[in-house]
Amino acid sequence: MSADSPSPAAGYAAHYAQLGMQMPASMEAFWMPFTANKAFKASPRLLASAAGMYYTDIEGRQILDACAGLWCVNAGHARPRIVEAVRQQIGTLDFAPNFSMSSPLPFVLAQRLAELTPGNLNHVFYTNSGSESVDSALKIALAYHRARGEGQRFRLIGREKAYHGVGFGGISVGGLPNNRKWFGPGLPGVDHLRHTLDIERNGFSQGLPTHGLEWAEELERVITLHDPSTIAAVIIEPISGSAGVILPPDGYLRRIREICSKHGIVLIFDEVITGFGRVGKAFASQRFGVTPDIITAAKGITNGCVPMGAVFVSEDIFEAFTQGPDSAIDLFHGYTYSGHPLACAAALATLDTYAEENLFEKAIELGHYWQQGLHSLKGLPNVIDIRNFGLIGAIEFAARPDAPGARGFEVFNRAFHDGQMLTRVTGDVIALSPPLIIEKEHIDRIFNVLGDVIRATA
Ligand SMILES: Cc1ncc(COP(=O)(O)O)c(C=O)c1O
Repeated sequence: MSADSPSPAAGYAAHYAQLGMQMPASMEAFWMPFTANKAFKASPRLLASAAGMYYTDIEGRQILDACAGLWCVNAGHARPRIVEAVRQQIGTLDFAPNFSMSSPLPFVLAQRLAELTPGNLNHVFYTNSGSESVDSALKIALAYHRARGEGQRFRLIGREKAYHGVGFGGISVGGLPNNRKWFGPGLPGVDHLRHTLDIERNGFSQGLPTHGLEWAEELERVITLHDPSTIAAVIIEPISGSAGVILPPDGYLRRIREICSKHGIVLIFDEVITGFGRVGKAFASQRFGVTPDIITAAKGITNGCVPMGAVFVSEDIFEAFTQGPDSAIDLFHGYTYSGHPLACAAALATLDTYAEENLFEKAIELGHYWQQGLHSLKGLPNVIDIRNFGLIGAIEFAARPDAPGARGFEVFNRAFHDGQMLTRVTGDVIALSPPLIIEKEHIDRIFNVLGDVIRATA
């Protein structure tokens, strides 16, 4: 972008000015993540404030948030209890190190979190993002085997189309070609299972698809190929979001669990988007009745308002690290901001809000209404699949022959500009994951807007 590229201040920043906040004189310096920077800066979409189910953009237009920001604002925006907790915390204890030093809050929070996690995943390692959670989980799995005298288990198994964040571990086990191909060979010793998207057999399934259980058996094949005694961990998103919402066939996760248990392999569920109520329980693991050995989380843990991630590990795994002398460091890993006091305060207030308003149950209560609304879009031009589970939805479009992703992006852009609604686009898929405070009238509006926009885009 050239130095004289337009500033968004030109003419339409009324709402933002009212808030007394600063407009950029130029948009040049901010290199936006996962964004076509030139196109965005030529035609920006800028949000100024948020409350409840809505953003307000810099022009003062109310934008319905059909995505919980980026799959993270599960309790809705600017919730008073969370705002107040963060406000108070910053003035009380702004930072405290957690390397051989600490403060009470990370312990209080860890205990609360351990009450929510499935099985005996009672130990919490704090990070600052989903990517860090994933890389931490992979390192913990490797170190766990080594601590038990099985250091030959160095292989990691991911899946095609998986998104596990952007660290080198995450992109190595991840399966999105664009996220991998620019960055060299990645970690050695990684293999991938096939993804579970099968539009031909499972197109327009409502809830979990019925075909594809047999793909879990691929794990046996890959394990046999490499020798089971070399495999450290398998990492799986119970429902993948970033690849365009890919659901596990009924029974698939249970079968993966069985195979991992049989071979002593650590099973990691990456619940960065499915955690904290998205599918009707604290974790998708509980909704599907399958308990992994490690869960990675982030996003909804603080309702998105302060960066935080977490890795939940089982008793067995934790115990393996505690066999040395009392004075020995258990795990040579951690971040300056692991268990940051602001994040802990935000997380505790977030958990209170979820509990007081029974928000995790909302994804079950409203799940049917959501499913009906979403599937009412079947038959609209170019819609080739619709997928849903809990309060997650996806609409997939036929790609334009010479421009994959263009149709999806046009729907997303029109939904924002014409429909005043924030959705998420990945290729030719529109993904939806609204705040759990959503009501039926918002659901109606989401699918009315999308219906209009999809027709207009044809
Ligand atoms: C399953 C999964 N893992 C990891 C991540 C990475 O999280 P973050 O962007 O906080 O690093 C995401 C982000 O969407 C995700 O969906």
